[in-house]
Amino acid sequence: MPETIFVLNGPNLNLLGTREPEIYGSDTLDDIAGMLEDRARELGLEIDLRQSNHEGHLVDWLHEAQAEGARAVLLNAGAFTHTSVALHDAIKAIRTPVIEVHLSNPHTREAFRHKSYVGMAAKATIAGFGAQSYLLAFEGASRL
Ligand code: DQA
Repeated sequence: MPETIFVLNGPNLNLLGTREPEIYGSDTLDDIAGMLEDRARELGLEIDLRQSNHEGHLVDWLHEAQAEGARAVLLNAGAFTHTSVALHDAIKAIRTPVIEVHLSNPHTREAFRHKSYVGMAAKATIAGFGAQSYLLAFEGASRL
């Protein structure tokens, strides 16, 4: 059985492609899924990409990643990045490595984006490369 890397996406990321394209680019989440699937096939891995606008789903999926023996989790928690102690605790609660991903670079944006509860618990962070952030994070995760 090929190992799986979970790719979890939080609120508003279902709107990628049309959502503030000057910040987030024109790729949709399906485009990103396709790009990751191509690379996963080359590496003999699988991806399980999900999106939810609900914080609790992301918490449940982090637990599930560990229960399913996933190699790693890529997590773009969207705005929950900057608010969610529950996600911080969930990342701490599992042994599965979690890599924080952002399309934009939150540190160059509004002050409220400068704090990351996800980043404070994650193994690593990749941000600011647009859709390529996911691919770079995937490369890192595949080498863990
Ligand atoms: C984001 C950055 C967050 O600050 C924002 O709330 C998002 C997207 C990114 O991928 O750049 O929803 O996570």
